[in-house]
Amino acid sequence: MKYFTLNDGNQIPANGFGTFRIPNTQKCVDSVTQAINAGYRLIDDTAEIYGNEEAVGIGINNSYVSKDELFITSKLWVNHYGYEKASKSIDDILKRLNTDYLDLLLLHQPFGDYYGAWRAMEDAQKQGKILSIVVSNFTTRNLIDLDAFNKVKLVINQIEINPWRQEHDSINNLNNLDVQVESWSPFAEGSNNLFHNSVLKKIAKKYNKTIAQIILRWEFQLGIVSLCKSVHFNRINENFNIYDFNLDNLDMKNISNLNKNYGSTEKIGGKLSDDDSENIIKYLNVANNLSTNI
Ligand SMILES: NC(=O)c1ccc[n+]([C@@H]2O[C@H](COP(=O)([O-])OP(=O)(O)OC[C@H]3O[C@@H](n4cnc5c(N)ncnc54)[C@H](OP(=O)(O)O)[C@@H]3O)[C@@H](O)[C@H]2O)c1
Repeated sequence: MKYFTLNDGNQIPANGFGTFRIPNTQKCVDSVTQAINAGYRLIDDTAEIYGNEEAVGIGINNSYVSKDELFITSKLWVNHYGYEKASKSIDDILKRLNTDYLDLLLLHQPFGDYYGAWRAMEDAQKQGKILSIVVSNFTTRNLIDLDAFNKVKLVINQIEINPWRQEHDSINNLNNLDVQVESWSPFAEGSNNLFHNSVLKKIAKKYNKTIAQIILRWEFQLGIVSLCKSVHFNRINENFNIYDFNLDNLDMKNISNLNKNYGSTEKIGGKLSDDDSENIIKYLNVANNLSTNI
C-alpha cells in the first residue's frame, strides 16, 4: 500500500474502499472484510446517511487486520450540524462502528450550521475521538471561509473526480492550499459507458490492465486518494492492484482530454456557484429527502 502525507502529519492510504450503496447487510460485512484482507487499509464512507456503519464495524472486526492498522472514515450528515447535535452524533458514530476513535471525520456537505459542527469536530479531535477533521463537496470558497475562521487547518476535501468530471481548477486550488484531494465515484458509477470507452480500452490494452485499474492509477499519479466500491471479490482485488505499472505522460494527457465537466454532482445540483439559487433549491430538496433515512 502507498500512502500520502497530510498537512497535519498524518498519513493516508492512497487507495481506499468505499461502502456507499452497499446496504446494511451481510453483503456489506463481507465486502469490507474481503477488502481489508485484499490489502485495503482505508475504509471510507461509512456515513450516517448511508446507514451501514454497524455492518462496516462488523466487517472490520471479522478481518485479520487490527483496527490500529486501518484508516477509518465517517461523515456527518447535514441534519446533525450545529455544535450540540454534531457532538452527540460523533459519539453515536463511534458506538455504531464499535471503535474508540476515527481516523477521519468529514462534513458531508457545506449546508446548514457547518461552523457549529466543525467546532464540535475540533473539540472531539482534542479529546482523541478523531485524528483528522476534514470536509467533502466543499467549493474552494466554502473551504477558505471555514479555514479562515476556525482553529484547525483543513487537510482533505473529498469531491467527485473521474474521467468525465475532472475538476482541474479545484485540484489546482486544493494543491496550492496544501489540502489533499480525495475522489469519490472514480468510475463515475460506470455511466456513459465508462468501462467500454475506446480511449481507456486502448490504454488498458497497452499496459495489460483493466480500465478500472487505469483510472485508479491515473488518480494515484495525480496525487489523489481514490475511493472505489465493489461488491464483487474479483473486482475488489483488481481495484487494489494498481502499483506495479506507470502511465506515461501521453496516456495521462489522453485521459485528461476525456473531461466533460459533468458528473453525479451536477445531476443532483451539487456544484453550486454563489448565484445558483435554482440548483441550491434542487440540492437541498435532495438533501432533505435523504435526511429522512436517518
Ligand atoms: N462524499 C460524497 O458525497 C460521496 C458521494 C458518492 C460516493 N462517495 C464515495 O465514493 C465511493 C465510490 O463511489 P460510487 O460507488 O458512487 O461509484 P464508483 O466507485 O464510481 O462506481 C461503482 C460502480 O462501479 C462498479 N465497479 C467497481 N469496480 C469495478 C471494476 N473493476 N470493473 C467494473 N465495474 C466495477 C461497481 O459495481 P459492483 O459493486 O457490482 O462491482 C459499481 O457499480 C463510495 O462508496 C463512497 O465511499 C462519496
